[in-house]
Amino acid sequence: NRTDHVRIVEVGPRDGLQNEKQSIPVATKIELVERLAQTGLKTIEAGSFVSPKWVPQMENSSEILEYILRTTPQSPHPITYQFLLPNVRGLDNFLSVWESRSSKTNAYPTPPPSPGTDGGPALNTSSQDPNAMPSASSGFEAMGKERGTSTSTSGPEIELSIFTAATEAFTQKNTNCSIAESLHRFEPIMARAKELDLKVRAYISVALGCPYEGPNVDPHKVAELAVSLLEMGADEISVADTTGMGTAPKTAELLKTLSSAGVEKSDLALHFHDTYGQALVNSVVALEHGIRTFDSAVGGLGGCPFSPGATGNVATEDLVHCFHSLGAKTGVDIEKLSKVGEWISQELGRANESSAGKATLAQ
Ligand code: HMG
Ligand code: MG
Repeated sequence: NRTDHVRIVEVGPRDGLQNEKQSIPVATKIELVERLAQTGLKTIEAGSFVSPKWVPQMENSSEILEYILRTTPQSPHPITYQFLLPNVRGLDNFLSVWESRSSKTNAYPTPPPSPGTDGGPALNTSSQDPNAMPSASSGFEAMGKERGTSTSTSGPEIELSIFTAATEAFTQKNTNCSIAESLHRFEPIMARAKELDLKVRAYISVALGCPYEGPNVDPHKVAELAVSLLEMGADEISVADTTGMGTAPKTAELLKTLSSAGVEKSDLALHFHDTYGQALVNSVVALEHGIRTFDSAVGGLGGCPFSPGATGNVATEDLVHCFHSLGAKTGVDIEKLSKVGEWISQELGRANESSAGKATLAQ
């Protein structure tokens, strides 16, 4: 049913920023999360706990998690924030922030407005000390808005994301291990997440083409991995076209293969990069097939450092515009979102890659 609600997982703050060469101030990353939170998006992947030797851009993700837990960014709906991690070391780093906060549940009530912020500059954190985190007394409050989504003090929903890939070569390049070893690494992560009642999504990269093994990735391998990950306890599988090599027929074939293997549509998300300009077409194919969760990045940001030449995720603005045109509901305000896409593109000094975003702003 095309009038269904489609869930958008905004991966801009993680996938969108991880490949940027210039160091991005943590205040800018937090401001991106804050701005996205106000657009109607309900799920935002906000950072990753990976090795900073491999992906230096994500090094300050613990500060972002800490900020989100401490303040609960203002939003029209409760938001789930996801954090990516590859191993137990990443889980431990995540938990060192998450547990210190959850052991003090209710210790982070909505901060009272600080004195001295009246008339202060709005949303200006990134133009100040580049290493400063927005605080309860920073520009966000100067907009005169209260913190948080509700009177609840228990904080936002947090989920974990783990990732493996459908080819051995990509798994080695991305995580320095085999596919089997990557699954083995997930066992203790999954067990601990279940104990702590944290949901886990699992990505399968290069599902429609691999930068090292070519465009013809075996869909049965993707299906086998999806089944294994679900059996291990994953709550959702995000099937990723890392390279953008996916086409409409390949997407349809992959989705049929997943169905034949017993993977429920409701357990799947699709994660398209737009390197060949096929992401929207593939998204519509997946929508027609009954998929209702899609990953995207505002302004078409993104790319994987271990997928040479791959460009950004499908732009959230484009996906939202396309789905709305088909009668689907996303809950996202495209005008607000388009402004965020333009703002972050300017902050990063890169072109806004969203056609719908630019057109919306030009109206
Ligand atoms: P390794 O070098 O084999 O691991 O990396 P290691 O255990 O030998 O550790 C190397 C160093 O990193 C050590 O430090 C560890 O302590 C440290 P040293 O002793 O040398 O000082 N370390 C860590 N530090 C912080 N956090 C951690 C962590 N783990 C080890 N979690 C490893 C293996 C998996 C760690 C590495 O390969 C890695 O971090 N890979 C992540 C790659 C990545 O982030 N890729 C992008 C995200 S995935 C993606 O974009 C695809 C997706 O969007 C879907 C799609 O489009 O396909 C999700
Ligand atoms: Mg990606």
